Amino acid sequence: MTTAPADAARVLIFDTTLRDGEQSPGATMTHDEKLEIAQLLDEMGVDIIEAGFPIASEGDFAAVSEIARRSRNAVICGLARANFKDIDRCWEAVRHARQPRIHTFIGTSPLHRAIPNLDMDQMAQRIHDTVTHARNLCDNVQWSPMDATRTEPDYLCRVVEIAIKAGATTINIPDTVGYTYPRESANIIRMLLERVPGADTITFATHCHNDLGMATANALAAVEAGARQIECTINGLGERAGNTALEEVVMAMKVRNDILPFTTGIDTTKIMHLSRRVSTVSGFVVQPNKAIVGKNAFLHESGIHQDGVLKNVETFEIMRPEDIGLHAKNIAMGKHSGRAALRSKLRELGYDLADNQLNDVFVRFKALADRKKEVYDDDLIALVSDEQTSDAHEYLQLRKLRVICGTDGPQEADMVLAVDGVDHHIDATGDGPVDAAFNCVKMLFPHKARLQVYQVHAVTEGTDAQATVSVRLEEDGRIVTGTAADTDTIVASTRAYINALNRLIVRRQKTAPGEDVKTVHYGSTAAG
Ligand code: KIV
Ligand code: ZN
Repeated sequence: MTTAPADAARVLIFDTTLRDGEQSPGATMTHDEKLEIAQLLDEMGVDIIEAGFPIASEGDFAAVSEIARRSRNAVICGLARANFKDIDRCWEAVRHARQPRIHTFIGTSPLHRAIPNLDMDQMAQRIHDTVTHARNLCDNVQWSPMDATRTEPDYLCRVVEIAIKAGATTINIPDTVGYTYPRESANIIRMLLERVPGADTITFATHCHNDLGMATANALAAVEAGARQIECTINGLGERAGNTALEEVVMAMKVRNDILPFTTGIDTTKIMHLSRRVSTVSGFVVQPNKAIVGKNAFLHESGIHQDGVLKNVETFEIMRPEDIGLHAKNIAMGKHSGRAALRSKLRELGYDLADNQLNDVFVRFKALADRKKEVYDDDLIALVSDEQTSDAHEYLQLRKLRVICGTDGPQEADMVLAVDGVDHHIDATGDGPVDAAFNCVKMLFPHKARLQVYQVHAVTEGTDAQATVSVRLEEDGRIVTGTAADTDTIVASTRAYINALNRLIVRRQKTAPGEDVKTVHYGSTAAG
């Protein structure tokens, strides 16, 4: 079975947020977060979800298997290198899906051929053998010549032909290092369609990285030349400068359908919610001027623009905020609002919470409404995201925090921290209240992770605004990001730090299975 679109104008959307996106340094997601994102992608109408790299770790395997079991509409794909062991493990994970796919790849450019030290003929043989093996397991096989855009054209044609003959149903052309340019991206697809026997029987995909800021343009150029699958991620998350952003290619084809006459199955009104959830769970804040989903994407600052938009919105807006699920910024609720009103407001914002989750959010909402004059949609989004981030089963949990700060240091923190379910009381001083609070955590949970990034953002305006804090830590090459929100910046900072440490524990388990990963860890073990 293939997923080749019957309609020549239909472009398949292949989302790799959970695989390539998760490879961004620090973007580690928990098991439950991956399941949630996969479900949202499926509901949004993504055609293929690349759920992970099953052989990479037990955690990846478990996530891909569970996503496969729960999948409804989307094809569920797993990644595998060009060897039988990877491919077998991948198949074990995806086989539970209604529509499974194996995606196997090997680097075909001269630089990449040199790594396994295979000459052109040996590599061609490896491609034949591995694609044949994958196809014997699964009817739906995707093959990628990694670094295709730096592979000699004749050799690229040769290996694509071999993969098609061996049974690949999708051929993906990765611009692995973001090196290509729109005209070249289109020419490669055109060349393959013209020169490779059997090219008309399979689907060509385009997979672009954004190192030169051209990932969206390169993907769309490939589609114009005949590719019918775009590989992309939410918010453009991904290795280095990221991948093609899903929201950009989808909205470009919608807004400029006059010159890009293609369709997708994406319900674009779900874009904003997914963007926010991916930003929260990955800890990657979306830059304010990011196309489509940035905070400023629909804001008009200059008087001329504001005046124009008030008179006729089309003067300065090429799409409507509602098209991506962004609603007017409004005061959401007050302290007299009830549970039913909260549930209905959250549904409108894209959150469908289970009863117990709604109860927890309601308690926090009431506390917020007591402290804050006006509770906006963005406040509720921050609050729910925070609730979904903190897990009642986490190893470290903040129970209580008091700090003494002011002009005369050192500042002091007094904390109750639960470590593996047992409450511990501690106090510490520091160079500022955040440092004092972090020192308390370090004393109760010694570790050698280095603080790489500490960022505070105000969710709305005003001195009573909630702060969302992200903290990025690095330990032995493992990078993790934690986030939290609170009207008290010190509380938000401490909880973000604890959230990052809980993720580090998960990450240690992933990379050093079997070790005691919850105690202080000074030896370098497996790679991050
Ligand atoms: O960028 C790349 O080449 C990849 C492949 C594994 C498809 O992500
Ligand atoms: Zn990639």
